[in-house]
Amino acid sequence: MARWPSPPPPPPPPPPLAAPPPPLPGASAKGPPARKLLFMCTLSLSVTYLCYSLLGGSGSLQFPLALQETPGAAAEPPPSPPPSSPPPPRVRPGASSPPPDNASHGPPPEPSERFTAPAADGWGLASGGGSRDVWSRSPLTPGDAVTAQGALLGRGAQEPGATEELAGPRATNASAERDPASTPDYGEKKLPQALIIGVKKGGTRALLEAIRVHPDVRAVGVEPHFFDRNYEKGLEWYRNVMPKTVDGQITMEKTPSYFVTNEAPKRIHSMAKDIKLIVVVRNPVTRAISDYTQTLSKKPEIPTFEVLAFKNRTLGLIDASWSAIRIGIYALHLENWLQYFPLSQILFVSGERLIVDPAGEMAKVQDFLGLKRVVTEKHFYFNKTKGFPCLKKPEDSSAPRCLGKSKGRTHPRIDPDVIHRLRKFYKPFNMMFYQMTGQDFQWEQEEGDK
Ligand code: A3P
Repeated sequence: MARWPSPPPPPPPPPPLAAPPPPLPGASAKGPPARKLLFMCTLSLSVTYLCYSLLGGSGSLQFPLALQETPGAAAEPPPSPPPSSPPPPRVRPGASSPPPDNASHGPPPEPSERFTAPAADGWGLASGGGSRDVWSRSPLTPGDAVTAQGALLGRGAQEPGATEELAGPRATNASAERDPASTPDYGEKKLPQALIIGVKKGGTRALLEAIRVHPDVRAVGVEPHFFDRNYEKGLEWYRNVMPKTVDGQITMEKTPSYFVTNEAPKRIHSMAKDIKLIVVVRNPVTRAISDYTQTLSKKPEIPTFEVLAFKNRTLGLIDASWSAIRIGIYALHLENWLQYFPLSQILFVSGERLIVDPAGEMAKVQDFLGLKRVVTEKHFYFNKTKGFPCLKKPEDSSAPRCLGKSKGRTHPRIDPDVIHRLRKFYKPFNMMFYQMTGQDFQWEQEEGDK
């Protein structure tokens, strides 16, 4: 029984550091051979994608090649941003190291299972202090509820980032001012010079909290969702959400849904062409399971991952219109960004390495932002109970702190055959992503996915 359409042939080995980028959607294949080759790869991926869509019936066509924005974002009335200038030329970044295997196959656990008693292992203890939910042990607030049924069942909606979110009617200046990072009594509020744009469940909160330790960084603790959901509120609203900074300090925010929002690159480019963008990427299979786990923790009645992952399980047809799957097709999302920003303006952080070597990844982040390497291994300790690195001294506290229990959940056991099919599904897209970024994240070498 034919259960799976053949994936396109893998792209050629990554080009040298100065390799030209793949063509943009709609661009001609004219140019040097490498560029043509990349164009062919993109085309091949697109054709594969189209096949999935056609085989899956009309429902699949909800996810055309030009990735659709989330329903919430698409519904917003776009204001008139200043016209954007043509995309700048692209360049390339460096290489990365292998990720860990965090395989964890057990019965579905409680979401908070991993964060119980304090560690007594000499690594240090997690503190319960802090006013945010993020590096703390406090339970999630009611605001943590999943509002987007579509994040799973509605196919394509981006799930709000729990209490991280600053959006909708709640997105007032007052709520921004509850964020300790936004209430110094000196300096001025500026539009951000750097953004963490994705990916959801990649490790974006860990990265933001770590970079906030740097004295030259000021960041909003919540997710403003300006370029996807709140754009009609205007740049002044956005500026007001930001913390005050003094000369030499960088203003930052993180909203992981930007990476998969069609309009975001153009909007961000029209605000600041030279802005620095950071994307934390993680094995898309593990990311999908993490995404599902998050929704499951709030909506225990949803179907199993195995059910949601397929359009037709007998045929082995993956449902790429499900946001948990769609978000992980990094190459297609990245194409959209590369129409507006050169690769030199985008840093890809390995979500896997952020766990095994947070200081190493933070060194890259600080270099990218043009900052002195202040956040180093001295700032982290591994908390055995949490199973993750924690901060010895977070930005707003002198006590050590781990991320909250919504970060580092134990994943439900997923049928290994489903994982195998997903890995096969993502492989050509991953290859393309490595090619485009010049970085091999080695997701294919992992033995399993938790
Ligand atoms: P899991 O909960 O699936 O383990 P995001 O902040 O973008 O939502 O990403 C959440 C993921 O960050 C977690 O996914 C976890 O694996 C990862 N992560 C990375 N560093 C972490 C840390 N220091 N503490 C907790 N989670 C961390």
